[in-house]
Amino acid sequence: MPANKKLLMLPGDGIGPEVMREVSHILEWLDRRRIASFDIGQGLVGGASIDATGLPITPDVVDRAKNSDAVLFGAVGGPKWDKMGFDLRPEIAILTLRRELGLFANLRPATVLDPLIEASTLKPDIVRGLDIMIVREATGGIYFGEPRGIETLPDGQKRGINTEVYTTSEIERVARVAFDLARQRQGRVCSVEKANVMESGLLWRQTVTALGAAEYPDVALSHMYADNCAMQLVRNPRQFDVIVTGNLFGDLLSDLASMCTGSLGMLPSATLGAPDSSGRRLSLYEPIHGSAPDIAGQGIANPLAQTFSLAMLLRYSFDMKEEAALVEQACLAVLEQGLRTADIMQEGKTRVTTMEMGAAVMRELERLAA
Ligand code: IPM
Ligand code: MG
Repeated sequence: MPANKKLLMLPGDGIGPEVMREVSHILEWLDRRRIASFDIGQGLVGGASIDATGLPITPDVVDRAKNSDAVLFGAVGGPKWDKMGFDLRPEIAILTLRRELGLFANLRPATVLDPLIEASTLKPDIVRGLDIMIVREATGGIYFGEPRGIETLPDGQKRGINTEVYTTSEIERVARVAFDLARQRQGRVCSVEKANVMESGLLWRQTVTALGAAEYPDVALSHMYADNCAMQLVRNPRQFDVIVTGNLFGDLLSDLASMCTGSLGMLPSATLGAPDSSGRRLSLYEPIHGSAPDIAGQGIANPLAQTFSLAMLLRYSFDMKEEAALVEQACLAVLEQGLRTADIMQEGKTRVTTMEMGAAVMRELERLAA
């Protein structure tokens, strides 16, 4: 079968390479079963890249990412690189990829799977069936706004500066992603900003309102201030379907929403660019859990978030909906059998290693596809 799907794997640091290894077995399986064949490249990012090249990401890796149909990213960072200069932090790798590839729409689902309902610190009645999609703007806002920097004032003290800035087109394109997703879900979008104190938030609210009225009258649009949204996410998270928000609020609220599920080791994310004239859109998929240096190298990390990230990749980048669902079902089946990595371990369940979890997912895939 021709390998027509170009995939770049960037495992990164910490548990990144450990969980990525399990996912590569699924790709091999898809190939062996002649379901799909991938042209797979590998590259260094984060601390691994700093050690090899002095840079958190090299222009070569950025170019290869641009020339791939999808990037599967692991995680970056660790104490070894904590003392790097601000511009050489491992995190620069992911920020550079988002910016250089124009990956403006960061999709962060927070779903509670029934077998893991007890993992949440919230009461089961509050989170049962939770299924939120946060759409976080990822190439603008205060993360990238100018002016920025640290300057020295005439009196000798210093001043740190960052700028929250959004244009109408930046707001519209990310809002469109949210509205389109809502149409495939429960048809509700909640747009989140601080229009009560920030002009950029006011423009955000006006722009999303106008777009909703003009192009998405069928989607129920509501607005919420970011602080209230944080509270509502803990009070009654099921009121939300799709949340759309800027870069910084999205960073905070997606961590909050992920903890409603109680299992960070389970959650994937996708970051998408704009479709070109042929419909191809650059995209990057990553688990939200980070490099977890405290447990790296022990073989105990949960590979399921990376596995769910692969499922999102199959669904959004290659339109392989059935295969994506198959991978997700395999993960769910393994959980229903009571297998648990350390992070989601509960009384009465069977504790397994990263490799055992990966192998169990493979067994389920075989069984489901038979
Ligand atoms: C995330 C992370 C990143 C961010 C860091 C690693 C730069 O927290 O993806 O949420 O702040 O965007
Ligand atoms: Mg974050």
